[in-house]
Amino acid sequence: MGKVIAIANQKGGVGKTTTAMNLAASLAVLEYKTLVIDADPQANTTSGLGIDPKSVDKSIYECMVDGVEVAQIAIPTEINHLTLVPSHIDLVGAEVEMINLESREEKMREVIAPIKADYDFIIIDCSPSLGLITINALTAADSVIIPVQCEYFAWKAGQAPEYDQDHPDPPESGAGNRRYSADDVRCALTSIEPSGGRSQNAFC
Ligand SMILES: Nc1ncnc2c1ncn2[C@@H]1O[C@H](COP(=O)(O)OP(=O)(O)OP(=O)(O)O)[C@@H](O)[C@H]1O
Ligand SMILES: [Mg+2]
Repeated sequence: MGKVIAIANQKGGVGKTTTAMNLAASLAVLEYKTLVIDADPQANTTSGLGIDPKSVDKSIYECMVDGVEVAQIAIPTEINHLTLVPSHIDLVGAEVEMINLESREEKMREVIAPIKADYDFIIIDCSPSLGLITINALTAADSVIIPVQCEYFAWKAGQAPEYDQDHPDPPESGAGNRRYSADDVRCALTSIEPSGGRSQNAFC
């Protein structure tokens, strides 16, 4: 059964997409069957893996809103063992369109369930928000990587999970009630500039 990893931080520009693409490509090079789900309407992972978002006919949007199967829209990439579920700007509308659906925070989990066993890893690149699509990704994920750029506001955004501890019964179900163990959450420090001045990433 594939392990689902969400790459999330509500702060923008902290290296989520860079981490998602490089982690996924590295796993694929190691011959793990890897699926990347681009869950950001900016579609940076889609374009970063060589697919023009304008050429995308069906995206994760159609899977979540219209019930299209992932297997129908997954695109092989130029990297062996690496497959992409693309995004599209239409995903912006999904949050509004899903608002009246029952169990709306479960849609991504339902979309992934039929193909979970087909992959070793499923990496979800989230948008810089704690909106419904990100909540869906967190609900579907077995673990979370939070890229944190080494500066104050990015670090503050990474503290958001504390909200759950202060509000054990939030009004929304789903990720609001979701508890990850310490083993399931990792921070990836990005843009560290050691004395040599060369930027790098580190996991902790
Ligand atoms: N370790 C790093 N060192 C220096 N620059 C980096 C590093 N990781 C990513 N970047 C650069 O930072 C910028 C933002 O990265 P990226 O798009 O991955 O962030 P993001 O969190 O996905 O952004 P968004 O919130 O808009 O989706 C990009 O120009 C990327 O090349
Ligand atoms: Mg991004």
